[in-house]
Amino acid sequence: MKETITISQLGSTVYNLLPNLPAIAQAGIFSSHSRAYYLGQSSSQAMHCRARRNLTKNTTEFTFQTGKGFENWQAGDHVTLSIFWKGKKLKREYSITSGNSESISIAVKKVESGIFSTWMHEHCHPGTRLQISQPKGDFHLAAGLPSQIALLSIGSGVTPLYAISQSLLQKNYRGEVQFLHGSPSPEETIYRDEILAIERALPGFQASFYHSREKARLTAASVLEKLTNFERTTSHVYLCGSGEFVGPVQKVLRDEGFANIFAEYYSLPASTESATGASVQLTKSGLNIQGAGNLLELSERAGLKPKHGCRRGICHECKTTKISGVVENMLTGEKSEPGSEQIRLCISKACSEVQIEL
Ligand code: FES
Repeated sequence: MKETITISQLGSTVYNLLPNLPAIAQAGIFSSHSRAYYLGQSSSQAMHCRARRNLTKNTTEFTFQTGKGFENWQAGDHVTLSIFWKGKKLKREYSITSGNSESISIAVKKVESGIFSTWMHEHCHPGTRLQISQPKGDFHLAAGLPSQIALLSIGSGVTPLYAISQSLLQKNYRGEVQFLHGSPSPEETIYRDEILAIERALPGFQASFYHSREKARLTAASVLEKLTNFERTTSHVYLCGSGEFVGPVQKVLRDEGFANIFAEYYSLPASTESATGASVQLTKSGLNIQGAGNLLELSERAGLKPKHGCRRGICHECKTTKISGVVENMLTGEKSEPGSEQIRLCISKACSEVQIEL
């Protein structure tokens, strides 16, 4: 089974956007499994906001002038934005929705009580300079396109899948695409018009929208209903959204025999771990920790301050060496090998006695 896990969020018409996709993204020559996680240096640079436009009543698209390192981004990549707020550096990841080697766009949904997204809406205007990282990610179209592709998302999870849809249009993909998206209402659907334009342009592309305010949620059952004729072993399924959506749908699809699932979360699924957990030895600090929660939370509770960013498995900033023991990837349920390897603390929990270089 192939699965990649990361996180995320993603005017003018689709036709205006198409020429802006980078050539290498259009060629689709990287597989999500073979490409290095970071494209070149991972450091950020100051970029000017060139434009902003409203997508929905609470979501705004921001376009930034880019610099070096943005030549080869791929549909599905994200960037990390940084701001200073009350003396603290805050960072958030956003999927690139469109762009080229000179500019990129992102979509920011204003979250109630969300410091970062509120700051963006109130303070980021044409001319504002922001620190933006190099593009990165591993949520991309896999090399060798199959004849059936499903793109499933809810809320702002649509953003990387919208970029991937543009990439399919640019490739003039002739297979079947089921694009299923859930949102509260048509007016609150990000990039709805652009996706419908892709549907009109690609004969095999079918978009279906589900609106919870109209009592039509996108659920595992509705997904299966649309994918009845999908070949389980060869089709590719991409999911993006909250853990409450991605986790259960992913499980149902796995149980149904779908072999190629690629998922990106913008919040972790609810933890089902026991309250005790296995014992974890932190070799540098000499501490032993144990309990519920991921290894980042546990070490913070013990008074340590491990390096981290997104806390959701995307940025890889919490990567630390596990010396021994088995950990579980909380996004995929996959168990590690018992030997030494790099793990992301924020999405790992101990399944046996574990030693970590921390
Ligand atoms: S992957 Fe971002 S903090 Fe762990």
